[in-house]
Amino acid sequence: MSTDRPDRTAPPHTPEELPRFPPGFFFGAATASYQIEGAHDADGRGPSIWDTYCRTPGKVADGATGDVACDHYHRYREDVGLLKQLGADSYRFSVAWPRVRPGGTGPVNPAGLDFYDRLVDELLAAGIEPAATLYHWDLPQELEDTGGWRVRSTAERFAEYTAMVVERLGDRVGRWMTLNEPFCAAFVGYAVGRHAPGAQEGAGAIAAAHHLLVAHGLATRVLREAGAREVGIALNPDHLVPASPSAEDAAAVRRAGVLHNDIWLDPLFAGRYPEHERETWGPLLDAVPRLDGDLELIGQPLDFVGVNFYRPITVSDTPHREPDPARRTAVDIGAAESWQGDVRTTTMGWPVVPGTFTDLLTELTARYPALPPVVITENGSAEADTVSADGRIHDTDRVEYLHGHLTALAEAVERGVDVRGYYVWSLLDNFEWAFGYDRRFGIVRVDYDTLTRTPKDSYHWYRELIARHRAAD
Ligand code: NOJ
Repeated sequence: MSTDRPDRTAPPHTPEELPRFPPGFFFGAATASYQIEGAHDADGRGPSIWDTYCRTPGKVADGATGDVACDHYHRYREDVGLLKQLGADSYRFSVAWPRVRPGGTGPVNPAGLDFYDRLVDELLAAGIEPAATLYHWDLPQELEDTGGWRVRSTAERFAEYTAMVVERLGDRVGRWMTLNEPFCAAFVGYAVGRHAPGAQEGAGAIAAAHHLLVAHGLATRVLREAGAREVGIALNPDHLVPASPSAEDAAAVRRAGVLHNDIWLDPLFAGRYPEHERETWGPLLDAVPRLDGDLELIGQPLDFVGVNFYRPITVSDTPHREPDPARRTAVDIGAAESWQGDVRTTTMGWPVVPGTFTDLLTELTARYPALPPVVITENGSAEADTVSADGRIHDTDRVEYLHGHLTALAEAVERGVDVRGYYVWSLLDNFEWAFGYDRRFGIVRVDYDTLTRTPKDSYHWYRELIARHRAAD
């Protein structure tokens, strides 16, 4: 598919070509609860907005659900074994709120916490650091029924749930992420409607953004009070590129940048809400009820900022009929995935342009002097994997993607960005949200008929990179 491109080195790369990282840099793999666990009604788990969304006809490809997924809930020992064989230093997983506090309010469900207790112990026994994300999009349905992230009370419930988790796991979890990609939770969930709960609102999505940030602040406080180690948040800041040199497209990039980046990064790392593009965003931002002290709460110092990076995004000032700016911008961004120039795209349709990873990280550092150390909390690619006659998965394109992006990351480090670690997305093929099981991001293949796991060539490539790093460390 790509061997004719002169600008790309065909794998396997020689060991000398593998990117190098500073001593102490750590490597791991990431997953999320709803995408891999299955066991949707085991041990008192309650329904989440994703259970509901998956059951809404037409929302998820092939009517797929996370009911079984990779059945990680029952096969976590095997999965930890795969991480151990990989040589992972750390494993980023998420805790399912509807397992821990099924209705979102009311008593803790100890049986739900027991699962994470077992997982954490298994990881520690394998010499792997447990790194927990507290919210990777599976909001208890009952909280959505009372307003979801549109209302502040959901942030308060999140803080209570955080307290339940840290009380049980705080002595063993080495790293915490309060939220995963709040941009998606707010805008893809409440404006575009392509994620649960599938709402298509402008003001509701902006309110959700603020309440997610408040939830982050409240949870950070709870984690600090409990003495948690390494507290951060996983964001997906985007490298936005205008589709053309026109002034209109440049303006579209600035508008989109507020939703994608500034609405998160400014309050977290600059103590303010965005003060530019006020014409578009001012009225919506000002309409969200804020309390005195919210910015201090949101802007508490963090030990690290998680960055999820996959691809650059092209933005154009497309003609549209949507009058609401929040919805319009979110929808436009969702639609604009094209990239100018001859680059490969993954099965998500995402352009592979590794150099933009370096650009994003250097820009972030330049823009936010108070930015804490960076951890890459996700990076990877969905590819059209096939099982060869030899039973192996020669996922050359994924190896190439990872090689390119880790090389770009090493370049950012070289240029002075303080990056401490990297998690590949994902350990396993899994439930890719509205795309169902069709898009495979794993470095380990999952056969969804038998739930058999088979490490792909990319797994072996990553293992080699980690082993060489450790030998040099
Ligand atoms: C980011 C999300 O956090 C994760 O859940 C998703 O599977 C990947 N991107 C790939 O789309």
